[in-house]
Amino acid sequence: MISIVGSGRVGASIAFLCVSNAIDDVLLVNRDRKKAIGEALDIASAIPADSNFSIHGTDDYSQISGSDIVVVAASVEGYTKDRTETMDHQVKMIKEIAQKIKQHCPSSIVLIISNPLDVLTYFFQKETHLPRFKVIGIASNLDTSRFRYYISETLSVPQSSISNALVLGEHGDSMVPIFSRVKVGGNPLFSMIDNRDTITKDVRNYWKKLRNYKSRSQFGIAKNTFDVIDSILHKKEIRIPASVVLEGEYGENDVAMGVPVVIDQNGVTEIEKIKLDDTEFSSLKKSSEKIRKDIKSIHS
Ligand code: LAC
Repeated sequence: MISIVGSGRVGASIAFLCVSNAIDDVLLVNRDRKKAIGEALDIASAIPADSNFSIHGTDDYSQISGSDIVVVAASVEGYTKDRTETMDHQVKMIKEIAQKIKQHCPSSIVLIISNPLDVLTYFFQKETHLPRFKVIGIASNLDTSRFRYYISETLSVPQSSISNALVLGEHGDSMVPIFSRVKVGGNPLFSMIDNRDTITKDVRNYWKKLRNYKSRSQFGIAKNTFDVIDSILHKKEIRIPASVVLEGEYGENDVAMGVPVVIDQNGVTEIEKIKLDDTEFSSLKKSSEKIRKDIKSIHS
């Protein structure tokens, strides 16, 4: 079973993808019981006729018991200028949710998508002491989708011709698009563009640009989260960037940030060591320092 904590736009979109792809039973959990039940009733109409699965909504956390995967998409309040604006309240929320997940399904794999993503991934793992490779922050693969989108738009090439695009570090203004590894049609991206800084700025500000047109992002994060759920439940290995608590990898300790990982039915099975150029490595160092500063600023 997949439990999704938070049945707002993103949680409901993830539930819709899981149900319409008949991937597993889904439980939508929300502090507002009516909202959880309402979204579940609506999405239930998307259950394929040949599906073995169903969807329900509740405000009762005990019903998450036995979940294979728990997605945390809850939020106590919105932010406008920066994902860390509501950090204190979000950390308090994530600690409360963490205790309930630890109590009811301690062996589940937990996918965090609430913001500020890296800080919440860190505090969730520290609060529960779940194995760090079973607490996965989903965002850097969303940023990577945006990086690929801008390369595709800049060069007017299909995304299928772009390989090895990666965004690492904070899911925030210090995120680091890794240009040095990208190939387009088999050729190094470096030889084709001279606007690395512009693309970096555009990827970092994608979410703000989106908000000029709609209230907040929804489908990109939902699909990226669904891909990870699909990989875990169907035992398919995927290689993406995701936020995990680091213990020495990339020279970092006691922080969670986006790094290249391998995920299968057991959660993260490896943090890949990839070669970065000097600019990329120092930008990643700055990004980890930004996240660590945010973590330290939390009043426990
Ligand atoms: C965004 C949210 C998911 O980047 O942080 O759109």
